[in-house]
Amino acid sequence: MPSHRIAAIPGDGIGKEVVPAARQALDAVARLDGFSLAWESFEWGCEHYQRTGAMMPPDGLETLAGFEAIFLGAVGFPGVPDHVSLWGLLIPIRREFEQYVNLRPIRLLPGLESPLRPRPGPIDFMVVRENNEGEYSEIGGRLYRGAPRELAVQAAVFTRDGVDKVVRYAFELARTRDRRLTSATKSNGIVHTMPFWDQMVDEIAPAFPEVAVQRQHVDALAAMFVLRPETFDVVVASNLFGDILTDLGAAIVGSIGIAPSANLNPEREHPSMFEPIHGSAPDIAGRGIANPLGQIWAGVMMLEHLGEERAARRLMGAVERVLAAPGARTPDLGGSATTGQLVEQVLAALEPDDCRTN
Ligand code: NAI
Ligand code: MG
Repeated sequence: MPSHRIAAIPGDGIGKEVVPAARQALDAVARLDGFSLAWESFEWGCEHYQRTGAMMPPDGLETLAGFEAIFLGAVGFPGVPDHVSLWGLLIPIRREFEQYVNLRPIRLLPGLESPLRPRPGPIDFMVVRENNEGEYSEIGGRLYRGAPRELAVQAAVFTRDGVDKVVRYAFELARTRDRRLTSATKSNGIVHTMPFWDQMVDEIAPAFPEVAVQRQHVDALAAMFVLRPETFDVVVASNLFGDILTDLGAAIVGSIGIAPSANLNPEREHPSMFEPIHGSAPDIAGRGIANPLGQIWAGVMMLEHLGEERAARRLMGAVERVLAAPGARTPDLGGSATTGQLVEQVLAALEPDDCRTN
């Protein structure tokens, strides 16, 4: 039986609840489709940090390099500064493994209600977030701490190679969809990096004559996500802009609890990583009420990446059937179901012989 080696990193907070829940669903669908997932779980994160002074062991990246994919919950918890947890685990993985595309589907699934009024048309677009450079940079520093003249400087880094790769990926994705690409910019206020970003988009566009490209300042774009979300097909954005836009995107399609993401190394030279958009949600951690669907949908993206398209369709079909039925919902979707109850519903909705759903 074919098998895929997967590294699971539940991480912190609700990551420890939604990763095991999603693994149940993934194992069930793998059984139906005749393959197995060989999981190895790594208890890295803030507790590891509090014990050892590091979010993961010194050879953590080396260990992960041997896996086909990484399945991550979320990292970060009160008691450890967020920049320590993020830069001690998540960002090193994204960078070491050249996962320069962070792909985030924003889709209003049947049965879910957008908080927007009047009710928008169908929402179904992809955000391609640059994932290795940009505003997330270690370059800079702080001086004169505590003094009136204290200062902090942080440099954003945009390289020709980095922007080229992610923008090309977005154009190629648009070519397989509705052939419309929106580039998020802010070249009126950010006067070096953003005009460079725009220039790169202009340089690449002629190679994709069938794709209509438009440029929007990110502030206006955020407003359009709210006012006209049905008009987008593919959105390409820098690291920070893409991060902000996708929390907003997740909110307009019902809940941050359902939105997935794929950190991709498109060349497949290194493992890619799959995780929900949301964080560790300390406000609800330990209560068993986290929505597991974002983690499960991230699992669907992982199955697609592993070439298990049939299993991916089957699992997504089950998620869609669960949401379309008026049954159990977790509190973020207005219900009172637990994480476990929702997973039970997904398992029950897996249809052994029905793979028509897509
Ligand atoms: P968050 O996404 O953890 O929570 C924001 C709000 O959404 C909270 O009210 C939370 O209860 C709710 N929420 C999130 N996921 C949910 C789910 N599956 N079901 C139901 N409700 C859900 O973002 P926040 O509060 O900014 O960050 C909390 C911690 O997570 C911080 O330490 C932060 O650094 C970390 N974080 C980690 C990320 C990662 O590992 N990729 C991403 C974002 C934040
Ligand atoms: Mg975010």
